[in-house]
Amino acid sequence: MADVEELKKMAGIEACKFVKSGMKVGLGTGSTVKYTILELGRRVSEEGLQIVGVPTSLATEELAIQVGIELVKLSDIDGLDIVIDGADEFDVNFQLIKGGGAALLREKIVAQQSNSMVVVADDRKKVSILGDFPLPIEITPFSYQSTIRQISKLLDCEVSLRLEGPEAKVTDNGNFIADAKTGPTILDPVSTESDLLNIAGVVQVGLFNNMCDAVILAGKNGIETLLNPVGNLV
Ligand code: A5P
Repeated sequence: MADVEELKKMAGIEACKFVKSGMKVGLGTGSTVKYTILELGRRVSEEGLQIVGVPTSLATEELAIQVGIELVKLSDIDGLDIVIDGADEFDVNFQLIKGGGAALLREKIVAQQSNSMVVVADDRKKVSILGDFPLPIEITPFSYQSTIRQISKLLDCEVSLRLEGPEAKVTDNGNFIADAKTGPTILDPVSTESDLLNIAGVVQVGLFNNMCDAVILAGKNGIETLLNPVGNLV
């Protein structure tokens, strides 16, 4: 049986089938989409693939430069053809939890500017109800303790400040991350996202609703391409 790293690699590489020369491509963040970026870099150098990329984190920017993908600023172009990214969970409606790698704000900005979104995942990420993975929420450092209390009250669950060593984890945007341990209870992710965004200290929520057009899913029986029936890739 393939191990998890092998599954990530299979999914990451398979997603490249959606990328053609001339495309503007959003480059996600994480240990699965890393394989997509490596494969796109290989196709650029060995096959003459011509693309420009927009990275969703400083880590991805560094990797993309290393493998020779030309990068552009999102603000300098008029949208993207596709973004390929990982996810922490996805449900039957293709709603996602993202932000395990703390890159959710840039990931969502890039995804909103893209014509289509393809998620790469191994089969541990498929769930019936979202929330077993603690929901990442980007919050302002200012008065973060009271924002965390507000989130906890709203969701009626434990919420913790993400740490890196003894200090708060600081995102690429200079913010903090709160992780909400809702458990698998997020039945209405659209309302949950909107309720959280009403809290002033919340910058962005790791629920990606109505954005994902396809999931490339790697499992022990191989690769499946799951197309969202109401998405942009059918
Ligand atoms: C980054 O903030 C996240 O949204 C990642 O895309 C997500 O955590 C999936 O990452 P892995 O592929 O490493 O599991």
